[in-house]
Amino acid sequence: MSYPYQIKSLEQYHEVYKKSVTQPEAFWAEIAEYFLWKKKWDKVLDWNFKEPKIQWFRGATLNITENCLDRHLQENGNTTAIIFEPNNPSEKSISLSYKELHFRVMQFANVLKNNCVKKGDRVLIYMGMIPELAIAVLACARLGAVHSVVFGGFSAQSISDRLHDAKAEFIITCDGAFRGEKIIPLKNVIDDALVNCDFVKKVIVVERTQTPVSMLKQRDLWWHEEIKKVELQGNPFCEAEEMNAEDILFILYTSGSTGKPKGVVHTCAGYMVWANYTFVNVFQYQKNQVYFCTADVGWITGHSYILYGPLSAGATTLMFEGIPTFPDAGRFWDIVDKHQVNILYTAPTAIRSLMSFGLAPLRNKNLSSLKVLGTVGEPINEEAWHWYDKNIGKEKCPIVDTWWQTETGGIMISNLAGITPAKPSYATLPLPGVQPILVDETGNEIVGNNVSGNLCMKFPWPGMLRTTYGDHERCRQTYFSTYENLYFTGDGCLRDADGNYRITGRVDDVLNVSGHRIGTAEVENAINMHNGVVESAVVGYPHDIKGQGIYAYVIFSGGLNDADLMRKDILQTVTRIIGAIAKPDKIQFVSGLPKTRSGKIMRRILRKIAEGETENLGDTTTLLDPNVVGDIKNGKI
Ligand code: PRX
Repeated sequence: MSYPYQIKSLEQYHEVYKKSVTQPEAFWAEIAEYFLWKKKWDKVLDWNFKEPKIQWFRGATLNITENCLDRHLQENGNTTAIIFEPNNPSEKSISLSYKELHFRVMQFANVLKNNCVKKGDRVLIYMGMIPELAIAVLACARLGAVHSVVFGGFSAQSISDRLHDAKAEFIITCDGAFRGEKIIPLKNVIDDALVNCDFVKKVIVVERTQTPVSMLKQRDLWWHEEIKKVELQGNPFCEAEEMNAEDILFILYTSGSTGKPKGVVHTCAGYMVWANYTFVNVFQYQKNQVYFCTADVGWITGHSYILYGPLSAGATTLMFEGIPTFPDAGRFWDIVDKHQVNILYTAPTAIRSLMSFGLAPLRNKNLSSLKVLGTVGEPINEEAWHWYDKNIGKEKCPIVDTWWQTETGGIMISNLAGITPAKPSYATLPLPGVQPILVDETGNEIVGNNVSGNLCMKFPWPGMLRTTYGDHERCRQTYFSTYENLYFTGDGCLRDADGNYRITGRVDDVLNVSGHRIGTAEVENAINMHNGVVESAVVGYPHDIKGQGIYAYVIFSGGLNDADLMRKDILQTVTRIIGAIAKPDKIQFVSGLPKTRSGKIMRRILRKIAEGETENLGDTTTLLDPNVVGDIKNGKI
C-alpha cells in the first residue's frame, strides 16, 4: 500500500496545512478518495459548535473493517497484520497475516451473530492484550455493533457503571490476563460487576490463563466452543454491515473534572480517516515496517494507534501483553531486537521508569532497526527526552511528541518524523486540519508568539468526538460552553517564537497519572465511600516517574489508632470502587480542609502544600478558618 497523501517535506507540510485551512472540504475529500466506501458522501462537512453538531462525509456509507482488512487482501494478504508478543518471553510470539486476521474476524463476527448481536448493540470488552482482543473489536465493527473497551485495571464497580451507562447487553472477556508476575482474574471481576446488571444477556470468555472461573448456564459461553459451532456451520464469510458515516463506531469512557466518567463517542468515517491520516503522516510509516505501540487497547492510544490507524494503513502492528519491567527492565529492548521494530511509540512514564534502571538493561540489545520514536499521554521532560534520543534512538531517530486526547480521536499537534523539526518537550506544530487557538480566562484570543493560554480548537477535524453517550448536554457543557464557538481541551499551553506549541498540563481538576486521566472528584467520591471518612480533597503533585502523583487529604471520623491501617483500608476502597490505577500515592489525615465561607475547598492551597511549598500560599484571609492551613502544613507527608 502506498500513501499518496504522506507529506514528504517541510515545504509540503506548510502547503498542505494552508490548504486544509483555506479549503477544508476539498482537502478532506481528496484524502477520503483513498479509502473504500460503499457509497460516497453528499457533503464533506456540516457543523456548528453551539449544539454541537458535527458531521463528516454525510451521506457516505462504509465499513471500517473493509478498510482495515478486506482491501489489503489482494496485494498484501500475506503481510503480517498483527505480531503478538506474550507476557512471558518463553511463550512463542504469534503472527497473523491480513488474510488470517480477516478470516478470524469474520469467524468471530459470526459467533456474535449467532448470539444475536446486531448493528447498534453495545458490547463491553474487558480483556488482556491478546490477539482475540483485536479480533473482538474488529468483529463488533464488522457487524456495526458499538464496542466499549474497558481497561483491565478497572474494578467491578467501574464496569458496572459503564454497563449501565452504555446499556450494554453483551460482554467479551477472558478467564484472566497475564500482567508481569500477576494474573488478573478478569472473569471474576466481571462476575462481581454483573451482580446488579441482570440485563446482560451473554458473556463470551476467552481461555487464556486457565484461571478457574464459574460459568453461568446460558449466559456465559467459551469463545473456543462458540468458534467450533461456527466452523461446523461451514460458511466462514461474514458480510460487513453497511454503516452510515456518522453511525457510532465506539464508546470509550474517560474521566473529567466532575462526576462519573463519560462515554466519548466516535463515529465511523471521520474517525477512520483521521486515525489513518495521522498514523501515516506522524510516524511516516513505510511499507513493511514493524510498528510497536506499547499502549493498551483499553485506552484511546490503543484504539487509534495499535488497531485502526495501522490496520487501515496495511501496517504490521505489534501487540504486547506484558509490562516494561517483566521479567526485567530490558523487555521493550528485547522486543525491539527480536522483531526488528522500526517505530516505537510509548509514554514518558515508561521512559522515566526505564531510565531509573540505568543502561544495564540495554546491554547486548540490538536497537539498530529503530527509525522513529514517539511519545504520548503527558508532557515529556527534557531529561527523559534526551535519554530516549541518546540511548534508544542513538541520536539518529526523530522523536515525535504527539499531543492529543480521547476526545480528539487521533494526534492533533506533533512534529512529523524527520519532516518537520522536533523540539524537546514541545509537541510543535498542528497537523493539517487542526486549528489551535490560545485564549485567556475570558475567552479572548491570545495572538502572536511567545504567549501562553488555554488551548482550544476553532474548527472541527474529522476525528473529533460527536457526543458523550446518552447525554449530549454534558458534551456541550464540558467542551463547547466554556468559550463560545470553541472546543476547549482543558489543557494549558504556550506558543514559542516560532509558533511551536508546548502543552503545560491540565488546567481543570483532572490528573494525569502515568499518562492516564483521573478526575480528582472521582477519587474523592471513592475515598468518601469508606465508612470512616468524613470528607476528602484530592490534588496532584509532581512525581518523578508518574509525572503526577495523587495526594489525598482525608478527614477521618473518630479516633485514628492506627493511621497506616486506615491508609491501607482507604486504598482498598479506592481499588474496589475505581481500580488500582486511582490509588493515592499519599494520604494525609487532617482535622479540617481550607474552605471559603461559602464552603468551597481552596484546592490551590492544598496543591501548593502537596508540592512542598510552605511559604507563598497566596491569600488565605478569605478562609473560614485560616488555622487549618498551619495544621495541614505541619502534618505534610
Ligand atoms: O493533558 C493532555 C495529556 O493527556 C490528556 C489526554 O488524556 P487522554 O484522553 O487519556 O489521552 C491520552 C492519550 C492521547 C491531554 O489533555 N497529553 C496527551 N498527550 C500529551 C499530553 N500532554 C503533553 N504532551 C503530550 N504529548
